[in-house]
Amino acid sequence: MQSSLQAGLHVGIIMDGNGRWATARGLPRALGHKAGIAAIRRVVEAAPDQGIGTLTLYAFSSDNWRRPQDEVTALMGLLRRYLREEAARLAKAGVRLTVIGRRDRLPGGIAEAIGRAEAVTVAGTALHLRIAIDYSARAAILAAAAALPDSRTPSATEFGHRVSGGPVPDVDLVIRTSGEQRLSDFLLWESAYAELHFTQTHWPDFDAGDLAAALRSFAGRQRRFGGLTVPAEAA
Ligand code: IPE
Ligand code: IPE
Ligand code: MG
Repeated sequence: MQSSLQAGLHVGIIMDGNGRWATARGLPRALGHKAGIAAIRRVVEAAPDQGIGTLTLYAFSSDNWRRPQDEVTALMGLLRRYLREEAARLAKAGVRLTVIGRRDRLPGGIAEAIGRAEAVTVAGTALHLRIAIDYSARAAILAAAAALPDSRTPSATEFGHRVSGGPVPDVDLVIRTSGEQRLSDFLLWESAYAELHFTQTHWPDFDAGDLAAALRSFAGRQRRFGGLTVPAEAA
């Protein structure tokens, strides 16, 4: 498996429950999303020390455009601000940031902020942080298939690089907060053998301890990759 060749685990997080967190407190949903940004900061800071080499965070799905305009505007504003404010801090911490998903539908200034944040953090080696914005796993797979140069069937590794936008390891663990137990079009190709961890905790409450608990649960799993024993390189 690709993942075992990379330094550190690839963890994907479906950051769900911002709205329910806010509603439970009598707050507007936008404040739940704001608290969700603080949780991102906590988890990114904790990740390298917990053995994570690649962290992919699902921030906005291509289906999230279906939400009310004011909520979309609030989310985009928060993401723009995060990208602008966080780039220098991430670079200082040795975190490389890349953004996956479509950029051509993002409102003013976000595509530019992504480009700048990616450029400023390009040398980071402590953690590869990937943020999924206007992301759809099915769309990523379709785009990779449409861009194949010839009719030769590619290897899964080669095709996977096209789907992921580079040599990204397979996902080892997908975490979803807030109780739902579904993937909602997140990293479908890359998660073929991912372990799944679901927690009731709403994303704004998620912290380093919750991340550690998910990784402890992961460490107790037996990954067999279709065989009968645990492959040595994946142990
Ligand atoms: C996750 O929280 C953030 C996004 C999907 C953008 P939600 O906004 O989905 O929160 P719930 O699921 O409504 O509680
Ligand atoms: C998935 O959450 C997308 C993100 C966390 C960004 P949703 O809240 O949009 O997913 P569904 O609609 O409950 O499946
Ligand atoms: Mg949700």
